[in-house]
Amino acid sequence: DPVVDSPTETKNDGSRRVKIGIYFATWWALNVVFNIYNKKVLNVFPYPWLTSTLSLAAGSAIMFASWATRLVEAPDVDLDFWKRLAPVALAHTIGHVAATVSMSKVAVSFTHIIKSAEPAFSVAVSRLLLGEQFPLSVYLSLIPIIGGCGLAALTELNFNMTGFMGAMISNLAFVFRNIFSKRGMKSGKSVGGMNYYACLSIMSLVFLTPFAFAVEGPKMWAAGWQTAVQTIGPHVFWWVVAQSVFYHLYNQVSYMSLDEISPLTFSIGNTMKRVSVIVSSIIIFHTPIQPVNAIGAAVAILGTFLYSQAKQ
Ligand code: 3PG
Repeated sequence: DPVVDSPTETKNDGSRRVKIGIYFATWWALNVVFNIYNKKVLNVFPYPWLTSTLSLAAGSAIMFASWATRLVEAPDVDLDFWKRLAPVALAHTIGHVAATVSMSKVAVSFTHIIKSAEPAFSVAVSRLLLGEQFPLSVYLSLIPIIGGCGLAALTELNFNMTGFMGAMISNLAFVFRNIFSKRGMKSGKSVGGMNYYACLSIMSLVFLTPFAFAVEGPKMWAAGWQTAVQTIGPHVFWWVVAQSVFYHLYNQVSYMSLDEISPLTFSIGNTMKRVSVIVSSIIIFHTPIQPVNAIGAAVAILGTFLYSQAKQ
């Protein structure tokens, strides 16, 4: 969960709550659609480096078009802004591609169960690298998070090491993204959530493109695309468009809501988002799960709620 800034939340403000409610509902709905199309694409066209590049490309194209048509006012940013953005974009790129690689190897639900352990990574990095101290209750809340994820992973019917490690790397990268965002956005010109995410997409696209060519490359993509079109039909193209556009839209809405809420409220929203993704993807993809596997996931998610309470 990205943390850009932390405006103070005013309580008892009815219209504000409605606005935040609308942001959250939109964010989760867009995220569910992204996850479904992303997996539908990866099932028949397993090239996560290309699909994650296309998500960033779609977002960049949408924003360039919005700026050119003056639908959105272009941000007034200087070199300093891009310098501060670079580490955030690097972490965003790594976290994004790692999550997509993970989802190409395992069930969407499994990736998101492991990704619900992000708070544990946040505490570990803050404690070990930044020397931050936390109350005992925060450390205790990590027990159900780690235990629940461990149980879910051990009992996962389609366990795959690349899929597991991808989700773990994504967790670590996104923790760094949050730390760098916080530091970067504190100083200098302020850019709203929508334009901040646009700049993040553009820079991440520049970082990711050469690696996508190096790891997969046009030969693989051409052959894979032929198979995908033969299996699904030419409309598989629209699945790729859907996953790319919805990736941008859900992230944009999440960054826009971040303008309105504290990082803590944001991370609670992000966990609740994972619950809706896990449940809907299990239903849509008929993911086989065992009761003990589901208990592990539920304990991990409960742990993230306890963590947010403890942090408060
Ligand atoms: C990605 O591809 O970047 C991941 O699906 C992002 O996951 P998150 O936004 O749910 O943390």
